[in-house]
Amino acid sequence: MPLEIKGLKVTLRPIGDKEIPQACAWRNDPEVAHLFYRQNVTPEQMARDVQTLRQTQTGDTLAIISNNSAEHVGTLTYTIARKQGAAAEATLGIIIGPRHTRGRGLGGDAMDALGKWLAAHHGVGKLLVEVKPGNQSALGFYEKTGFTQRAIIMERNI
Ligand SMILES: CC(C)(COP(=O)(O)OP(=O)(O)OC[C@H]1O[C@@H](n2cnc3c(N)ncnc32)[C@H](O)[C@@H]1OP(=O)(O)O)[C@@H](O)C(=O)NCCC(=O)NCCS
Repeated sequence: MPLEIKGLKVTLRPIGDKEIPQACAWRNDPEVAHLFYRQNVTPEQMARDVQTLRQTQTGDTLAIISNNSAEHVGTLTYTIARKQGAAAEATLGIIIGPRHTRGRGLGGDAMDALGKWLAAHHGVGKLLVEVKPGNQSALGFYEKTGFTQRAIIMERNI
């Protein structure tokens, strides 16, 4: 488990219990919540999810801390998948919470720092993100940070 991942603008470290209510409030903000598949996540549920993922040792939920202000500004989750005969891939999920901290390069720096760390420490060769249809803002961000579209996943309720 990483103790600390240093980027140019942010530092990443495993999220602590005390930071979960804030992370949950960002996640449940109506402007953001509709961008995700699961709605109204409670702090207890998020704490359980964090512990479950951490115990697998194939992923973690990290707090994003601004290097300038030492403020907790977001959350970045990664999950590593290993497939035979191919480089490992990590699926990421990111939120930069406070509106005044968006658009300042913090999200991009967090992705870059985590990507370098995953490559160096876990042999990860690809980063993946899932974007809900209509989330143009996230698409714009991911395209600017070097992602290209690989697949369209469709679903049907049964
Ligand atoms: C999407 C999000 C993580 C971006 O983080 P951020 O810190 O605001 O983004 P950055 O300032 O690091 O931007 C990095 C690059 O992406 C671009 N970018 C950021 N937001 C963008 C947007 N809405 N549309 C187009 N481009 C965008 C920036 O212009 C920048 O490009 P540049 O380097 O050429 O200047 C943040 O806005 C957020 O948390 N939004 C709500 C939750 C969300 O949508 N999460 C993703 C769910 S899939």
